[in-house]
Amino acid sequence: MNHLIVYAHPNPESFNHAILETTVNALRKKGHEVVVRDLYDIDFQPVLNPQDTAAMKAGQTPEDIKTEQEFITRADVITFIYPIWWTGLPAILKGYVDRVFSYGFAYAYGEAGIDQLLKGKKGLIINTHGAPKEFYDQIGMTAGLKITSDIGIFDFTGIETVEHLLFGNVPGAGEAALKDILRQVEDTVTSVF
Ligand SMILES: Cc1cc2nc3c(=O)[nH]c(=O)nc-3n(C[C@H](O)[C@H](O)[C@H](O)COP(=O)(O)O)c2cc1C
Repeated sequence: MNHLIVYAHPNPESFNHAILETTVNALRKKGHEVVVRDLYDIDFQPVLNPQDTAAMKAGQTPEDIKTEQEFITRADVITFIYPIWWTGLPAILKGYVDRVFSYGFAYAYGEAGIDQLLKGKKGLIINTHGAPKEFYDQIGMTAGLKITSDIGIFDFTGIETVEHLLFGNVPGAGEAALKDILRQVEDTVTSVF
């Protein structure tokens, strides 16, 4: 399968980067093709600005958006890897979705409602956060995070979410706990694909 991983973390030494490496290695080991779009590394411009909306209205998709859309078109599976920031996506990834998952590419308004233009693709999301997982489960935050990304972004455009992993208490976790998370990531990626 062709995998596209969209990765958003500013620090190459971060734990999220270790998750990225684990995911890429597990997929390649099973013979999958993997492309990584590291949004900080490519200096992705995340603000949907008036020039973008004017160009798109005129049917001319800006080049940087077109490039990212081509990666999505070629992918069978789209994976987002990011830390939870202010109970959502880091701004650079939110802006990627704003600009790249555009009207006419990812969705459209049809006669019967929303046309999901990315149907047939699968989606995986891997998140870390600082709050304990049990706390986020208990107050409904985990469910909220899943609703806004799995349903609000992936399902809205027709992408089937096959798994969404959320790992809490990451900044306070010791070496053994972090290793265990990477093992869970590897196991999931290996068993799902
Ligand atoms: C700007 C910012 C906002 C954050 N917001 C949240 C939050 O809303 N909930 C939470 O549990 N942790 C939050 N955190 C903590 C990060 O999610 C956590 O440090 C990260 O997932 C750990 O992974 P890393 O070591 O790869 O950065 C935030 C961190 C930053 C820098």
